[in-house]
Amino acid sequence: MAALGGIRACVFDAYGTVFDFAAAARSCADVLGEQAPALTALWRDKQLQYTWLRSLQQRYVDLWQITGDSLDYALDTLGLADPALRTRLMDLYRTLEVFPEVPETLRRLRAAGLKTAILSNGSPSMLETAVVGNRIGDLLDAVISVEEVGVFKPDPRVYRRALERLGVAAAEVSFQSSNAWDAYAASAFGMRVVWCNRYGQKSERLPGHPDHMVTTLADLPALVGAA
Ligand code: LAC
Repeated sequence: MAALGGIRACVFDAYGTVFDFAAAARSCADVLGEQAPALTALWRDKQLQYTWLRSLQQRYVDLWQITGDSLDYALDTLGLADPALRTRLMDLYRTLEVFPEVPETLRRLRAAGLKTAILSNGSPSMLETAVVGNRIGDLLDAVISVEEVGVFKPDPRVYRRALERLGVAAAEVSFQSSNAWDAYAASAFGMRVVWCNRYGQKSERLPGHPDHMVTTLADLPALVGAA
């Protein structure tokens, strides 16, 4: 019997869960050398902070703008500011690759009759480029951007939007995120949650309680009865 019963839709966070954001700095190792991991961490932390701060300030701009702003901050902090490097990193961010197990996982879920979707802070154009570039468009019923709501995760209106778009109840959704804060927030909202803890994060001290923790999405089909 599936660990999570009654699931009708599997909804995925994008960056860090489906798409490997660390690949951008890794691909610039020729310039960044040993600073690549530090740049990835600072860029990502600042990018997330800007989404939360702008949501609180009610000053939404899309994630492409925020990704550029946070990259500028990170490059400046690490003494790496350089227009050519910035352009290269932003181009790489737009065309990030999926984690290797993603296409087969989506195929299995769909073969079992489950709906699949991305629910992301990404702008529609960023998500479209990444989905098309990785040829996973045919494996997704919906690609939902926070742009439809005008506020970033973890605002509950974002999770609610996924239910409206897919026509399912919260308890019928298995939500997957590698971001612990996102996993906890979706759980607090009422979704079932599989925390894909790729980065070895510790438990959050926040509302919510993910139902399962895995380290790769390859383990998801078995959890929702689609193995
Ligand atoms: C997203 C970020 C939070 O895709 O990873 O929504």
